[in-house]
Amino acid sequence: MLRRLHPEQPESFAFTPDNLAWAEGQITKYPEGRQASAVIPLLWRAQEQEGWLTQKAIETVADMLGMAYIRVLEVATFYFMFQLQPVGSVAHVQVCGTTTCMICGAEDLIGVCKEKIAPKAHVVSPDGKFSWEEVECLGSCANAPMAQIGKDYYEDLTAERLGEILDELAAGKVPVPGPQNGRYGSEPLGGPVVLTAHVDGRAQYNASVALATDIGDTVKRIDGSEVPLRTPWRDRSDEDGDAVPDTHAPKLSDGASADDTGIDKREAPVTPAGEPKQPVEGGSEQPAETAGTRPEALDAPREGGADDLKKIKGVGPKLEELCNSLGFYHYDQIANWTPDEVAWVDENLQGFRGRVTRDEWVAQARTLAAGGETEFSQRSGKGDDADE
Ligand code: FES
Repeated sequence: MLRRLHPEQPESFAFTPDNLAWAEGQITKYPEGRQASAVIPLLWRAQEQEGWLTQKAIETVADMLGMAYIRVLEVATFYFMFQLQPVGSVAHVQVCGTTTCMICGAEDLIGVCKEKIAPKAHVVSPDGKFSWEEVECLGSCANAPMAQIGKDYYEDLTAERLGEILDELAAGKVPVPGPQNGRYGSEPLGGPVVLTAHVDGRAQYNASVALATDIGDTVKRIDGSEVPLRTPWRDRSDEDGDAVPDTHAPKLSDGASADDTGIDKREAPVTPAGEPKQPVEGGSEQPAETAGTRPEALDAPREGGADDLKKIKGVGPKLEELCNSLGFYHYDQIANWTPDEVAWVDENLQGFRGRVTRDEWVAQARTLAAGGETEFSQRSGKGDDADE
């Protein structure tokens, strides 16, 4: 299915103040330089606010995360959960049409949608209230056929019941989600045959339905005001109301495992001389602590200046800068790397891992160190595949 931006777009997009605060809080979950990781939550919140993803919303998210517009557009067009065209003002109905639901009557449900909403999917109904689409399995096959309406599942549907649900939604009501045939959960149609002891004392709704009714946002647009504690890792205060230190803020782990912090446990970045190292564009500021042996490095190029490492096939300006930052300036340094040292460098070329082996740097460097030329060095400077 071709997924493109809708031809008619609003002129602007802005998060509501509360949604903006929420979105800024999400961004703080990720370490400096990794803000793009928040792209899906932010796009999703924009959709929750507007109902669908507009071009301006995509661009706004890209600007907030320092990403190229095309990168965010790629995400928005890849995932079918993002609606790229206007949806109904009340609800967008997603009918599961996969095998189990199809066998149990999904085609009848789609017939209701065609009749009561619009003959074709992704077309808003004449009153503007509804739209619909057929989707792949939503994982509720034991309660087939089913549809997701807004944020919640309506299961064990019949064509008649779906019609009633749409009428209720159009009238401003929100029918209770979950099984619509009297089932509590996904027990057998004839009633539970195991774990029957708890049937009498159980809550009114199963956990999913209870949560849906408690939150009550089935078809609600989200403006952010409904979530009082948006970023609990930032907004903590003690009994006296004083701010509590932000113990959950993203940070490099110190002694803790990656699982505890969500961040790789790495050595602090240093230069060969032991000074803190500055990040290199396209690379990373964190040398790995793993494979191989670190080759001997220089604090600075020898007298006469550094060799032009870009004459090595596969090395462009970024990789040359990265090599220099690791203390490698000369062909003869690279020419003398042992396999164990190659393994270390391969591992530590953050963003370019494995390039030493892939492009046979050592063999090239031996030729260049001996005053010779490689086929690549003879034509270097013509924009060949550096840093690719
Ligand atoms: S087949 Fe419809 S939910 Fe799985």
